[in-house]
Amino acid sequence: MRRRIIAGNWKMNKTIPEALELVRELRLGLKDCANVEVVVCPPFTTLSIVGQEIEGTAMSLGAQNVFWEEKGAYTGEISPHMLRDAHCRYVIIGHSERRHIFRETDEQVNRKIRAALGAELTPIVCVGERLEERQANKTFEVISGQLRGGFASLQSAEMQRIVIAYEPVWAIGTGQNATPAQAQEVHAFIRNWLVKAFDKDTGAAMRIQYGGSVTAENSAALIGQPDVDGALVGGASLKAESFLKIVQAAAC
Ligand code: PGA
Repeated sequence: MRRRIIAGNWKMNKTIPEALELVRELRLGLKDCANVEVVVCPPFTTLSIVGQEIEGTAMSLGAQNVFWEEKGAYTGEISPHMLRDAHCRYVIIGHSERRHIFRETDEQVNRKIRAALGAELTPIVCVGERLEERQANKTFEVISGQLRGGFASLQSAEMQRIVIAYEPVWAIGTGQNATPAQAQEVHAFIRNWLVKAFDKDTGAAMRIQYGGSVTAENSAALIGQPDVDGALVGGASLKAESFLKIVQAAAC
């Protein structure tokens, strides 16, 4: 049985006081959730303080990006080791905003995944098609290309330490989520791809989150699908009330 995982991607939101307010509300509202893992991914500037605030709770800390080098002259970048130092256990890699706004490639995603694994971080690797790709019936082609490139040269044991997030680009921040059936179709495709590219155990063990306009209202139906193992939540993770409801929906 795969343990569900709900992660909040705060993106470029929350000052230090705002982050503290949110995380304190989450801490108070979080019920015992043995069968669901909860991760918050604040911006770099609040990682450390949020990390201190959630110590000893059921929440884990994640970052939204990482660079692949250990240290050195890479102005503006953050290394896996630095994330560990800030008490991160997870890191989002290859989010569609990074792929599209910052032109991140599958090869860079692959380097980041390998560096994160090397530092004992759990990568949350995002894949997803754009609207025009879906309309041109290229969803599976696009996703398999991202999987092949992102996971190049990785072994089964490494794969089993990774979480995948299927996030259709057209659903992110638009209020138009994939239907549970649309999500399940792609999740099953990804799991099947993992079985073929690696092995049965890897396909069965790996967790695949859905992301893209997940709300307190639609999360139960999405997470209820057999191959959907949780959610990567953007907008609805910025308010304690909605994020807690999503966690609650996954816990039952
Ligand atoms: P959204 O973002 O929930 O606001 O659509 C999801 C994401 O980008 O991870």
